[in-house]
Amino acid sequence: MIKPIIIGNWKLNGSKKFIKNILKPLNQFLIKYYKVCTIVIAPPILYTNFIQNILSSDQANFFLGAQNVDTHFSGPFTGEISPIMLKDLEIHYVIIGHSERRVNHYEDNHIIAKKFHMLKQEKIIPVLCIGETSQEHKEKKTKEVCKKQIDVIFDLCGENAFNNTIVAYEPIWAIGSGQSASPKEVQIISHFIRNYIKSKSNNQIKNFFIQYGGSVTKNNAQELICQNDIDGFLIGGASLCLEEFTKIIKIINK
Ligand code: 13P
Repeated sequence: MIKPIIIGNWKLNGSKKFIKNILKPLNQFLIKYYKVCTIVIAPPILYTNFIQNILSSDQANFFLGAQNVDTHFSGPFTGEISPIMLKDLEIHYVIIGHSERRVNHYEDNHIIAKKFHMLKQEKIIPVLCIGETSQEHKEKKTKEVCKKQIDVIFDLCGENAFNNTIVAYEPIWAIGSGQSASPKEVQIISHFIRNYIKSKSNNQIKNFFIQYGGSVTKNNAQELICQNDIDGFLIGGASLCLEEFTKIIKIINK
């Protein structure tokens, strides 16, 4: 049995007060669950040190993630964060290709592939978000879109690209909308993604996980996690609420 992986993507949310209130109880709660579930929190990057300091007297029962990385290791790139710095900060997972970055920051498949490649070079686990728009969904183009988003990664990184990585299937229309994709639909696409990646990897894939993201809550987590090809969740809004997030983890543990 694989160990499910849950990532809380805090996006552009949080403050010192919020972190102080949520972190200690969350860490206490996770003592019971960290062995059966891998938990990652991806806060806004500038709070990393603050979080590490708060936990300094405790054993952290989760990993820290980041929400983005630059396509350079160092140099004159004002405002950017390099994979080497993330490694230095003991960040184990980095979300890339999120639709909010693709849309708001014009990141295309090639930029995302470059980020993926650089993270792998630093042995940081990329969490590659893929998924279709509402229009593409209506036109039944989901598989085609996902395929394209995956192909650029293989083109740049070769057939072992997806060893030790996570693909998060996040239909754009389901993100923050309160309207999750149906478990059946997510299973079909996740199964397609797994088989497609496996076939392009010469059937030799290791430590590869598929997450679902898009309006995951305590009410739909159970049915979603029961699907064969869903190995965990990438959670936005619900990860900001201690009660909701811990309930989802409890459900997965069952
Ligand atoms: P929500 O869970 O708020 O829909 O966000 C999903 C997401 O974008 C996680 O990366």
